[in-house]
Amino acid sequence: MKMKNIVLGVTGSIAAYKAADLANRLTKEGHTVNVVMTKNAREFVAPLTFSTLTKRPVYTDSFADTPDYDVEHIGLAKGADIVVVAPATANVIGKIAGGIADDLLTTVTMAAAGYGKPLLICPAMNTAMYENPIVKKNIEKLAALGYGFAEPRESVLACGDLGKGALADTDDIIKAIEAKLT
Ligand SMILES: Cc1cc2nc3c(=O)[nH]c(=O)nc-3n(C[C@H](O)[C@H](O)[C@H](O)COP(=O)(O)O)c2cc1C
Repeated sequence: MKMKNIVLGVTGSIAAYKAADLANRLTKEGHTVNVVMTKNAREFVAPLTFSTLTKRPVYTDSFADTPDYDVEHIGLAKGADIVVVAPATANVIGKIAGGIADDLLTTVTMAAAGYGKPLLICPAMNTAMYENPIVKKNIEKLAALGYGFAEPRESVLACGDLGKGALADTDDIIKAIEAKLT
């Protein structure tokens, strides 16, 4: 795959630590990886982990002062070849499907979709949450609008339940990114 500019959105799921491996792999393949973390994602993994692995600043705040006075969410969306949200919480999927843009990540995804950029959503959540009809409907709505999805795996989840909801494997997410970009 040619070197790409990838925005990686990380949300407040226990699977957030797996996004560090994804960021690492994509960076080592030569891609520019701009990580955007929600406030809740920062409860699980420190931005320092991602900035060290990607050798890039990590974006967390819509209203932070930027040295180049860029409007950050538009700059990130315009510059992206693809926006990947991994892991994607039920909450962020609902916000994207509902047209809510109340933090940097959801504003970037909304702008990126408006610019016609490909988006890949990688859900990770408890099985009961994943099977909740509201979550299902949100996923169906986004899929019908052209958003890509990396389907979660069936596994013993962090909560102890066995079922579908574990973040797709890094290899499968990378394959899905490549498929979206070609
Ligand atoms: C320990 C813990 C683990 C969680 N794991 C998940 C998860 O895997 N998937 C999910 O959808 N929500 C999970 N949540 C709930 C989200 O953190 C919560 O919905 C939050 O509002 C998501 O915020 P965000 O989407 O802005 O990052 C978890 C919460 C806690 C306390």
